Amino acid sequence: MIPSQINSQTTHLNTTVVRVRFEHLQETLGIGTPQPRLSWLVETSTTGWIQAAYEIEAYTPAGPLYGQTGRIESSDSVLVAWPFTPLSSRQRVAVRVRVWGGGGQVSAWSELAPVEAGLLDPGDWTGRFIRPDWEEDAASPQPGPLLRKEFTLRTSIRQARLYITALGVYEASLNGSTVGDHVMAPGWTSYHHRLRYQAFDVTGLLHEGPNAIGAMLGDGWFRGRLGFGGGRPAIYGDRTALLAQLEVEYTDGVTERIVTDETWRANRGPILTNDIYDGEEYDARLEEPGWPKPAYDDRGWAGAKAVEWNFATLFAPLGPPVRRTQLVAPEAIFLSPSGRTLIDFGQNLVGRLRLTVSGPAGQTIILRHAEVLEDGELGTRPLRHARATDRYTLRGSKNGDQEIWEPRFTFHGFRYAEVEGWPGELKSENIWAVVCHSDMERTGWFDCSDPLINRLHENVVWSMRGNFLDIPTDCPQRDERLGWTGDIQVFSPTASFLFDSAGFLTSWLVDLAAEQKATGVVPFVVPTVMPKPTPPTAAWGDAAVFIPWVLYQRFGDVKILADQFESMCAWVDLIDRIAGKGRLWDQGFQFGDWLDPTAPPEKPADARTPGFIVASAYFARSAEILGQAARVLGRKEEEDRYLALAGEVREAFNREYVTPSGRILSDSATAYALALQFALLPDGSQRQHAGARLVALIRAGGYRISTGFVGTPLICDALCSQGHYAAAFRLLTQRECPSWLYPVTMGATTIWERWDSMLPDGSVNPGEMTSFNHYALGAVADWLHRTVAGLAPGEPGYRCLEIQPRPGGGLSHAAARHSTPYGTAACSWQLTAEDITVEVEVPPNTTARVTLPGKDGAPIKIVSGKHTWTYAYQDPDEKPKQLSLDSTIGELIDDAEAFALVVQAMSEHGTELVGNLLALEQASLRQAVGFLPWGEELLASIAEVLSGLNR
Ligand code: BGC
Repeated sequence: MIPSQINSQTTHLNTTVVRVRFEHLQETLGIGTPQPRLSWLVETSTTGWIQAAYEIEAYTPAGPLYGQTGRIESSDSVLVAWPFTPLSSRQRVAVRVRVWGGGGQVSAWSELAPVEAGLLDPGDWTGRFIRPDWEEDAASPQPGPLLRKEFTLRTSIRQARLYITALGVYEASLNGSTVGDHVMAPGWTSYHHRLRYQAFDVTGLLHEGPNAIGAMLGDGWFRGRLGFGGGRPAIYGDRTALLAQLEVEYTDGVTERIVTDETWRANRGPILTNDIYDGEEYDARLEEPGWPKPAYDDRGWAGAKAVEWNFATLFAPLGPPVRRTQLVAPEAIFLSPSGRTLIDFGQNLVGRLRLTVSGPAGQTIILRHAEVLEDGELGTRPLRHARATDRYTLRGSKNGDQEIWEPRFTFHGFRYAEVEGWPGELKSENIWAVVCHSDMERTGWFDCSDPLINRLHENVVWSMRGNFLDIPTDCPQRDERLGWTGDIQVFSPTASFLFDSAGFLTSWLVDLAAEQKATGVVPFVVPTVMPKPTPPTAAWGDAAVFIPWVLYQRFGDVKILADQFESMCAWVDLIDRIAGKGRLWDQGFQFGDWLDPTAPPEKPADARTPGFIVASAYFARSAEILGQAARVLGRKEEEDRYLALAGEVREAFNREYVTPSGRILSDSATAYALALQFALLPDGSQRQHAGARLVALIRAGGYRISTGFVGTPLICDALCSQGHYAAAFRLLTQRECPSWLYPVTMGATTIWERWDSMLPDGSVNPGEMTSFNHYALGAVADWLHRTVAGLAPGEPGYRCLEIQPRPGGGLSHAAARHSTPYGTAACSWQLTAEDITVEVEVPPNTTARVTLPGKDGAPIKIVSGKHTWTYAYQDPDEKPKQLSLDSTIGELIDDAEAFALVVQAMSEHGTELVGNLLALEQASLRQAVGFLPWGEELLASIAEVLSGLNR
């Protein structure tokens, strides 16, 4: 029996163990591993608290002890190996933990945390996949069928579990109540390799006597159309099917199973068509009241037929399900210039609409969705082949009852909706936007004194929410919504800070490895849906190596490295074979620095930085990471091999692309950023030179961004690595196009795919590939967290924090907070006229290295708890100096205020002039414009502007 919380040792009342967790899961019913790793948090008021020892106990539901570790001398509290006999399928235990601090006092026991194994063996399934027994043409949209079964239960039900999944997507119900709150279950995985099932506790939905189970099926990713250019339907199969296994346990220990088999009945339901891209059509007149309840007459229904499927593909989820996470009310309902009814939800979001409506039977309401307006009408061109249109036909009722409807098997990316056919006046309380995404726990926050930067950060959060709908997608609205590997490769550090994305990304990486298996090639998108195998391409395929490393760094999960090791090696070995003895990856297809802002709208790969520079730089970095991963795993031979390979690639890179002084071929910001961030330049003076050249380029670009998907996530870190903080802040605070803040000034509420998805005149970029919800360029948020606010992992899992805030950009404060695997970590700073105050919170059982702004010398080592420093401080970048006509153009560009005024004065003489001026960095103002016919006049007005500066 569970012993009482009181025990003989002195308990430390200030120290409690909370949130005992299993693997990376919030929900642990139906866990897919027999030996789930355990993590816990310690809350304590003792500063410098370090765990000296822990003890874990597990109990079976009836009470007896299942296992007991006794006191284990260890400071480990994150992903601790399962210390007991492995669980068998369906086995349930509850676990509790207590800990000892350095002072020898023991905490009280944590609350009991339950965990229950799912069906761990394919042989546990006795149900079969079933489909309705009628013919269907998968090439055209099909109705979503209903499947049902009645059964009788006897008295004394102790508990009931429903294990369920589908080929397609499903919504299940028991006796008329919907089971669970998942959306688009079972989600999208590489189905031929892995199909997730869900487990639900349905005890409360059953009763003695007749019961009924029912399910609706939709096409989802399994049979729906996927891919651009029209896409392809039925990629995984041409029939949707259901697998359900209801296991009812009685108090006498007897278990009864109701499983999908050919005794089930099937019918066409009210869902006429359903498609992720195109939307859902629902005719409520076709609803069959009572069908999911007992005593419904299904004699007119068709039978069910078994479908073959490999049960070895069935897996329990590793991350959270998709759920409805927020309701958003309309901000405005208005008429467009052509007289259509439009709704603005004020936020670009992902999900669908929920209607509350009454009206005549047969009236059809049409809902169209889009992210932007063009000329005051719904801007649907960027959706390409996605119709993004839902249709609801009212059931109607004599007494005017309200009908509530929300599509089930589709989702849209939208801020605006157009409503056609609404009976009567559309009021805002009758329509809501329902936000849907993987229900990850929010773990990261950032805030600073600039509202535009805060909005930028908020946009990153919204783009993550919109694109973490079961897999990490590029975009959520057009005919794509695919797991583009490059996009998540660059965004994974940001994602891992903002939300607990460990389980979500781990699951996706398993798919990546499965898809990669045959050839080592990482497909462009995971799960792959391309009609033909895709070639290896750098930065995209490197997701195989970079993302496991990010998860190891951010969540302290060594197993992810072990599990992905083969996939990581397969990728690097493949590139090694392609590169051959020359050690350069200089052939084949590359996306390169995708969407460099100078690339023409129709040629997104046409970047300043050649794709092969990107490719070899990534090759070197992936080999390096792999060598480091091998070291963590204690695989000495691979460590030596891959670190040596990385060295050889670096050497080849230098030989081919770098001058001895540190200038890099193509002389582009992305090339320097790659070389600096991927440690490709061996010598300090080269790095310094490269840093100086990078600043010069950025300055010559007027501090507008000049990088695409590859350079953008690295550019600020690269500048800071050489001490060019001011330049990084200038890039961050730039508002002109292209820049991070330009979309914010244009009213963006998510991160755009292109720097100029919307052009300065308010029109939509003419490029056919123009999304307003792509997270890749939002990867800068990671730099905001680590450098502007100063909160970074110093050791894997934030076991040691690296606190190194860097004020700048005219900000007077910045703050970041993160729920690390050990608890809350935070760092903030606040400037006053003369002082700075830095506040740091270090979670228990961790330490931190702190480098205070403006203080030289070795970092200070601090222990857990709250720490504050206040001292005299002068912003090192703030050097307002008197500029004159003899100042260089470079000096002028560096002074944001003066530069803006001079540009304004000059644009009166033509904007071309401003462009030319930027290229004359070393010339003085006098030299640059003095020779022009109107030079004297211009110099006079510039001199006036400069002297007007209050310095
Ligand atoms: C996607 C991406 C992706 C790119 C690569 C686009 O269509 O939206 O974001 O990375 O293609 O080609």
